[in-house]
Amino acid sequence: MFRVAVLVSGGGTNLQAIIDRVKDGSLPGVGIVRVISNNAGAYALTRAKNAGIEGVTVSPKEYETRELFNKALLRAVKEASPDLIVLAGFLVTIPPELIREYPDRIINIHPSLIPSFCGKGCYGLHVHEKALARGVKVTGATVHFVNEGLDSGPIILQKPVAVEDGDTPEILQKRVMEQAEWIILPRAIGLIAEGRVSVENGITHIAPKKQG
Ligand code: GRF
Repeated sequence: MFRVAVLVSGGGTNLQAIIDRVKDGSLPGVGIVRVISNNAGAYALTRAKNAGIEGVTVSPKEYETRELFNKALLRAVKEASPDLIVLAGFLVTIPPELIREYPDRIINIHPSLIPSFCGKGCYGLHVHEKALARGVKVTGATVHFVNEGLDSGPIILQKPVAVEDGDTPEILQKRVMEQAEWIILPRAIGLIAEGRVSVENGITHIAPKKQG
């Protein structure tokens, strides 16, 4: 089995999209082995429980220093022996030691077409507020590998979404989730699980599907 650990902080609709694709057979050989949240109240943990997936909380509040929290997070990840770590709305800065331990094995979903509307301060609804303030006509979502920079790792998949007249950040956020995030995040997991994604000089290459 290709073992996936999913890190979450909130509602977990992206987690749900992965669970649904595993269930409907779209991701053969893939299993979600653990969901880790930094927030005990995250609805994503309920989604994990409902799907029979182990959920654990590692909250910074429970640790005296950031270093101790980082160690606990790394431990919680390692215990799951993941082949891939998926950040699905995980709002915590990923400890460098985790990135070093899992090079090109951590992916993140970002709700814009990187390099637009990414980097410092660009998370959650802010991304869509900035897109609307700039007046772009197309936005979208990006799945990328996580490196030590902010939203700067190799891009795996992107999907555009139209901005419509009268959009609010909330309406646009929902459209980007439905039309892009929930589609490309499971798809990227499938491509990686099939061994089709390689990285060369910061650029990913996606090999065609093997025949037969
Ligand atoms: C999504 O918009 C994702 O792009 C961003 O955080 C949000 C998480 O939503 N990184 P959910 O918890 O998956 O519903």
